[in-house]
Amino acid sequence: MIVIAGSASPELSARVAKELKCQLVKPELQRFPDGEFYIRIGEEVKGEHVMVVQSTRYPQNDNIMELCLLLDAAKELGAARVTAVVPYFAYSRQDRRFKPGEAVSIHTVCKLIEHAGADDIVTIDLHHEEITRNFSVPVYNLTCMPLLGKYINGLKLNDPIILGADKGASERAKQVALEMGVDYDHLEKQRVSPEKVVMQPKRFNVNNRDVVIVDDIISTGGTIAEAAKILKTQGARSVYSACAHALLVGKALQKIRAAKVKRVISTDTIENQVSVVSVAPLIASSIH
Ligand code: R5P
Repeated sequence: MIVIAGSASPELSARVAKELKCQLVKPELQRFPDGEFYIRIGEEVKGEHVMVVQSTRYPQNDNIMELCLLLDAAKELGAARVTAVVPYFAYSRQDRRFKPGEAVSIHTVCKLIEHAGADDIVTIDLHHEEITRNFSVPVYNLTCMPLLGKYINGLKLNDPIILGADKGASERAKQVALEMGVDYDHLEKQRVSPEKVVMQPKRFNVNNRDVVIVDDIISTGGTIAEAAKILKTQGARSVYSACAHALLVGKALQKIRAAKVKRVISTDTIENQVSVVSVAPLIASSIH
């Protein structure tokens, strides 16, 4: 088995190769003067099971193109099996036509990856499980939520409660909480009058508790910041935030910190300053 490190996932690729005790190959990646990519896999991959590890985080379009070039090259060079490990899957929030005429972008991305040569796909916490149905090859959508729970357990929080940022995140919150053996709930928006919407946990009171808000993605940080401010007014002792994929667009971290969130905890599906939990063991175990 060989792990090929995409340029968007250098650390995760190395961790996966270490877990699998296999060769790590760093392909040559250059740009032509007009911006096009030049890719070269400088090692023999013939007859091997090759895993291309590439997050499709920002710049998404470049990272998707690089992934497709690597998959196709590995296949053409005679790899016996090519697995696309896409820890963060770009465009997954445009997985339906919200308005007539819209492109369902995730369909296009799935087609590109499959047709580039992926024999199977490994991914982490897809925005919606239904996205897997776009592929005719096997897709393993793994969840990092128990790993986040294990990490948060180590923080020794005071009477913690795990809250999904919305109803869609409630199952993720449950998985974190089950790992920790603590309460879970999700935030619900309720219209109390034609002009006023309030946001509060559906079942529990957060007064005097440490709260962890869980979501799949933190993008601009708006959802977490808004939730944190409200939870503080409801008496939360401290607020933490945990997610699978911390995109952290623009000033997201400053916004979250300004809302008095004590810490943002995320994984290396996107490598950055908050990616303290590695999904490498999860990816490696799926291969086994
Ligand atoms: C939305 O459906 C996702 O699950 C996240 O809640 C969303 O992407 C968070 O975005 P932001 O950080 O910009 O509020």
